[in-house]
Amino acid sequence: MCGIVGYLGQQQAETILLEGLSKLEYRGYDSAGICIQKNGELSMSKAKGRLKNLAQELEHHHLEGHAGIGHTRWATHGAPSDINSHPHASMSGNIAVVHNGIIENHNELRSKLQAEGIEFRSATDTEVIPNLIEFYLSKEGGLLKAVARTVKELKGSYALGILSKGEPGQLIAVRKDSPLIVGVGDKERFIASDVPAILKYTKQVVYLDNQEIAVLNADSMNFYDYDLNPLAKDIHEITWTAELAEKGGYDHFTLKEIHEQPKALRDTMTGRIQPGNPIRLDELELTEEQLKAYRRIYIVACGTAYHAGLAGKKAIENLARIPVEVDVASEFRYRNPIVDQATLVIVISQSGETADTLAVLRDAKAKGARVIAVTNVVGSSIARDADDVIYTWAGPEIGVASTKAYLTQLVAMYTLAMKFAEILNISQGSDLDELKSALLNLPEKVEEALAMNEKVRAYAETMFRVHDVYFLGRGLDNVTATEGSLKLKELTYIHSESYPGGELKHGPIALIEDGTVVISPVTQSDLVEKMVSNLHEVKTRGSRNLILTMEKHLDIVRDAADEVFILPDTHDLITPVLAIIPLQLLAYHVSLLKGFDVDKPRNLAKSVTVE
Ligand code: AGP
Repeated sequence: MCGIVGYLGQQQAETILLEGLSKLEYRGYDSAGICIQKNGELSMSKAKGRLKNLAQELEHHHLEGHAGIGHTRWATHGAPSDINSHPHASMSGNIAVVHNGIIENHNELRSKLQAEGIEFRSATDTEVIPNLIEFYLSKEGGLLKAVARTVKELKGSYALGILSKGEPGQLIAVRKDSPLIVGVGDKERFIASDVPAILKYTKQVVYLDNQEIAVLNADSMNFYDYDLNPLAKDIHEITWTAELAEKGGYDHFTLKEIHEQPKALRDTMTGRIQPGNPIRLDELELTEEQLKAYRRIYIVACGTAYHAGLAGKKAIENLARIPVEVDVASEFRYRNPIVDQATLVIVISQSGETADTLAVLRDAKAKGARVIAVTNVVGSSIARDADDVIYTWAGPEIGVASTKAYLTQLVAMYTLAMKFAEILNISQGSDLDELKSALLNLPEKVEEALAMNEKVRAYAETMFRVHDVYFLGRGLDNVTATEGSLKLKELTYIHSESYPGGELKHGPIALIEDGTVVISPVTQSDLVEKMVSNLHEVKTRGSRNLILTMEKHLDIVRDAADEVFILPDTHDLITPVLAIIPLQLLAYHVSLLKGFDVDKPRNLAKSVTVE
């Protein structure tokens, strides 16, 4: 899941491409490169590693020109290296391409082109694209036709930016499955994988849909389908500001986003939750009859979003008494699930571009199911393809580890569960009102939890050198334990696992020895005793227990704890919103103490747009 950017206009493209790539580096940071077009010539500069390596290279050798394409890479085919960095040129150098996605039939196409005498420089799947375009250039007569012929042969996912020596001042962009937008400026055009890359220059964007081609010149743009039928496209106004995509005085995006959670919750609840009033989800038209007609509800997502789905299941089953199955998208799509017109599928995705989740959405719709999407990015593929979209208003999330988006996904799922309960007239109005009030008080409570930052940092100093950490939880606390474990893995590379407290005796307790760090949220009133006895079991084997709980449970948990973090009190159903805060901060501080890049952890990327 790479980041691509392109520019055509009056300004020097090099600066704009580097600026854009710096806003896309969260998508992949194995290597970076740009190609600039000037007077019909194409000049490239690319470097392995972080974008700053490329910037240093360009410091010594600037590339002049008003048209260019750029790329920051998350390696899938061909190890990170200078030669495997994008852009990739055709053998003659006449065509240059940047690509985000995977060409699944690249071996076959490579053999076909090699049989035509074409030599390859890199080990990437991408390099077949410029060579295939050049192969068809003479046959089809013109770049656009050659591109259209080429993309019909490509299998897989791709967002492309294409420049050629033969078409000065023209940039062609193509999209299939990987995200791509066109930015519209005054006598300038942009392409980008994501909005933050061009927000500094324009708020006017065109969303490319699947299998669409854009032919851009500085002061014009035309859109076509793969058969080169012209397409009319709308220009949309982006509501985010460039500042939102900046660090705002924080050392890291991840810390900024952790501290933005109170606002993200308020923005996501505003206009939807009001005690004494029914839940307002105008974006969801669902009658009692329709809801009752669904024999099955699935919640499907990946990573952190999947964890929000686990909490969503609990909320829907508790409040609306409808059975819900939750699954990870990469498993769901290949287990031949029972999906038909009587199925409601809820997909959750911060980016709205995660390939497995998007595929589940499309498969389900193809089988007649209704799909509700909970997503954070307006205009994302999942938002555009779903039947209904519930936006989480967390704002741009740049840190690879998801924090504020997770909290808004939890609240969106609670809101949906209450909506279902009201439609079915299941839960008592008073119970729902109590929950609504508790939800509306969450932003202040999150502020309180954030005030634990110093205490968490001090605890981090006592354990950041450990090799293993075990998270234990029961019920909704197991959701928090699982998400807390993922945050620690992602940001600190410490081996950590989470287990339901009751599962310990069935094996995992064998892992516990003297000094083993165990972290456990204990917030579910009906499960406190059960969980505390599990914690005594591990303490007996020498574990060091950190317990996260409310004041009201302190007397019960105290003896099983070596360290206690007191959480603000709230409704049992929504404690995952508060209990995760100190665990986000812990992962952040341990990462810092280990000297890692918090915002760009190794081997990860923000949006997983390939399978
Ligand atoms: C979470 O911190 C990770 N970045 C990752 O697990 C993420 O939640 C997952 O890739 C799903 O992404 P999405 O919400 O954008 O679909």
